[in-house]
Amino acid sequence: MGGISAPGGARTRTQVLIIGGGPSGLLLSQLLDLAGIDTVVLERRSRAHVLSRIRAGVLEQGTADLLRRAGAGGRMDKEGLVHDGVEIAFGEERLRIDLAGLTGGSTVMVYGQTEVTADLYAARDARAGVVIDQAEDVALFGLEGEAPHATFRRDGLTHRIDCDFIAGCDGFHGVSRRSIPADRLAGFELVYPFGWLGMLADVPPVSDELIYASGPRGFALCSMRSPTRSRYYIQCASDEEVSNWSDDRFWEALADHLPADVAAGLETGPAIEKSVAPLRSYVCETMRHGRLFLAGDAAHIVPPTGAKGLNLAASDIHYLSQALIDWYGREGRGGGEEAALVAYPQRALARVWKAERFSWWMTTLLHDLPERGAFGRRLQQAEFDYLKASRAARAALAENYVGLAY
Ligand code: APR
Ligand code: PHB
Repeated sequence: MGGISAPGGARTRTQVLIIGGGPSGLLLSQLLDLAGIDTVVLERRSRAHVLSRIRAGVLEQGTADLLRRAGAGGRMDKEGLVHDGVEIAFGEERLRIDLAGLTGGSTVMVYGQTEVTADLYAARDARAGVVIDQAEDVALFGLEGEAPHATFRRDGLTHRIDCDFIAGCDGFHGVSRRSIPADRLAGFELVYPFGWLGMLADVPPVSDELIYASGPRGFALCSMRSPTRSRYYIQCASDEEVSNWSDDRFWEALADHLPADVAAGLETGPAIEKSVAPLRSYVCETMRHGRLFLAGDAAHIVPPTGAKGLNLAASDIHYLSQALIDWYGREGRGGGEEAALVAYPQRALARVWKAERFSWWMTTLLHDLPERGAFGRRLQQAEFDYLKASRAARAALAENYVGLAY
């Protein structure tokens, strides 16, 4: 852990205080540091816990570029897998989406978010960045004035840090969004009546490219972390218990969800991890409240279909870091103009809503939606047939999948 928190030795002031040491908070801290802006990151959990979380694994080109710019792209460029296509399977039919061909050469990078987070921690350590983990009971104060501060407990002591700005990068369940008065918060939510059951296993992936599959039993995804490590998902009830799923039961169900020719090629093996994630779409349009700025999962959630969560966090951080760098640059020249900071929510939300739309669209195209009945299934079939028949439809999918420009 970089720095902290011996009694009396704790930092008491920074320029930008960042709540949350996930990918959003670490990336922001790194980009601001590279621009000469001082930050402290407060993370509720231990570093080991943060680095044990398994999340999605597809980086848009813009995200990969941002990680390189942050000096955290070295291992990704060595170990990440560049994919120039992705497959959609509908029943027994398979359709390849030629990402590169349909977008003028754009690709995605398959590289786990866990690795991204580890690389960002390493980058912060290399620059002696202050990341305080196990910071409990973080509370935010003075957000509507010019001198906000936060308090937290660590090792039984209460600490206080004063700052110019607070960046709320503490995920969907964090304290930052909850610190905005309810009557000032504009939130929009859609909860899906199902989840994903995921499993990680050291077996070669069934295919070189990701396969998003929709069949009579619902959705499945064949993804990977490396040529020897696979990540698979199947649609499940949102309150499904992982303990009901033996490895054998998972593999059988996965095979049942895939086209027969794909299922025939599955290599099975013991699970390293299994987990259930509910699916949700959520946007908090109040991405700024006074001197508090929300970014990443603290401000919005997408269902994982399309892998936009981490990528949206990255574009938020791009916009927010630019706005803060602009503010400090002008302050140095006697300015301290707030225009870029005030514009941050609008700039970020324009991209957020498009990614929300795409994630919702891919989710409703591919999942079993019992409430829509046979009519809904016919619509999904028509949507798939349209993708097959229309280059324009495939190009729209590809353009969104590789990530809209920012
Ligand atoms: N105080 C301090 N830290 C907190 C608090 C709190 N009250 N609440 C949560 N945190 C920490 C969490 O422990 C976590 O490490 O904030 C971090 C938020 O990280 P993420 O949830 O990973 O969110 P974010 O960094 O925005 O990453 C974007 O993209 O693929 C998606 O959901 C996926 O995590 C991913 C996200
Ligand atoms: C993953 O590899 O975990 C993954 C890939 C693509 C998605 C979601 C998750 O859309």
